[in-house]
Amino acid sequence: MAGFSLCGNLPQDTFEFLKHHDCPITAAHSTEVAFTAQQLAERFDIDCQQAEAAAWLHDISAVFPNWQRAAVSSQLGIEILPEEELVPLLLHQKISAVMAAEMFGVTDSKVLAAIRCHTTLRADPSDLDLLVFAADKLAWDQRGTPPYQHEMEAALDNSLEAAVWVYQRYLWYSGKIKMIHPWMRDSYEELKVRYEML
Ligand SMILES: [Fe+2]
Ligand SMILES: [Fe+2]
Repeated sequence: MAGFSLCGNLPQDTFEFLKHHDCPITAAHSTEVAFTAQQLAERFDIDCQQAEAAAWLHDISAVFPNWQRAAVSSQLGIEILPEEELVPLLLHQKISAVMAAEMFGVTDSKVLAAIRCHTTLRADPSDLDLLVFAADKLAWDQRGTPPYQHEMEAALDNSLEAAVWVYQRYLWYSGKIKMIHPWMRDSYEELKVRYEML
């Protein structure tokens, strides 16, 4: 927080904090995720404030480059799984949750939990977990339109969970997974049982 002071308005604070630390792309992405989260919250009758807070903060740990993430996690007392040690990018969700609590004063455990699993999801997710996960994927941080976007949006007509399953299945077969995180495996297997038994 050196050289930075919070004004108390979460959207402004997170946006400016990310810009202050030279992460303008993450600032723009977080803005889009927050917008998408708000739309999904209204659509699925989920608490809008929780959804937006989690969305604004989900990637706040982008201020730490990958090479620092294992050391930062150790300093913060975060448990590092073997998969996270091999792919430190996977640690950013846990670091974001600690930063949200300790630097931005978030005390809502549901918001912190949704931040903490926004990349991998987890078994038995809350509605807020599903919402933040889905919003992050719909407002993705790469150029162009996500290849899964149309199918995911169509699945939203059924449920948030159905949309999440579209993404999970896309990712699983995309060949883009560097490392299968155990939380992701749990989540994938849980949804697979539910959707492939239909
Ligand atoms: Fe992320
Ligand atoms: Fe993100």
